[in-house]
Amino acid sequence: MKLYLKPANMEDIEKEFSFVSCVPADENGFINTNAGMDFETFKQKGLPGMIAASKGEGLPEGYVPETFYFLWFEDDESSEPVIVGEFRLRHNLTPSLEKGSGHVGQFIGKDFRGRGFCTEGLRLLVEEAKKIVPENELYLHCNLDNQSSLRVMLKNGGVIHHKNENGYFVRIKLR
Ligand SMILES: CC(C)(COP(=O)(O)OP(=O)(O)OC[C@H]1O[C@@H](n2cnc3c(N)ncnc32)[C@H](O)[C@@H]1OP(=O)(O)O)[C@@H](O)C(=O)NCCC(=O)NCCS
Repeated sequence: MKLYLKPANMEDIEKEFSFVSCVPADENGFINTNAGMDFETFKQKGLPGMIAASKGEGLPEGYVPETFYFLWFEDDESSEPVIVGEFRLRHNLTPSLEKGSGHVGQFIGKDFRGRGFCTEGLRLLVEEAKKIVPENELYLHCNLDNQSSLRVMLKNGGVIHHKNENGYFVRIKLR
């Protein structure tokens, strides 16, 4: 069994589109701006927008570069890789990210939850973050009722920095 992160790219568009089409517009604060999009619009705008975001292009004022990764799974018995999740890494903090959603977004497809995929995906993302993020700690956030997301963070060395009515604010040491 193999799990790996791969940045959004045009070559994998068919599988990326099928995955993204099943991600709700907003689940626990994980926002999918491509929800409900048809394939042609995804090809012309959605996916190129995700790729450009990693270079800091085409973003709203004040937004920092953000890399979109898909989490790919290859079962030993099947040679066909499938996308099981999506992770996002914002390259550095701004005052609003610091108080809000932090560096990371994580999402696992409904059929693949509860199998440790997010735990391993976040571990891989932390390794990516060490190469990209200038801050010494990765900032993460989840809603108070999102215990599985919190658990994934804590299993990756996360420490609850504080908690308020908006959720848990977790930090993972990068260096
Ligand atoms: C949160 C999410 C990413 C977790 O993905 P996942 O692949 O199911 O996570 P994992 O299987 O790696 O780990 C889940 C852990 O939470 C635990 N868990 C699940 N439900 C729980 C609950 N209600 N209370 C406490 N722990 C819980 C599991 O037991 C597991 O821990 P364990 O391995 O120690 O047993 C996934 O549910 C998801 O995509 N949700 C929708 C989007 C979302 O909430 N994103 C996060 C926004 S911050």
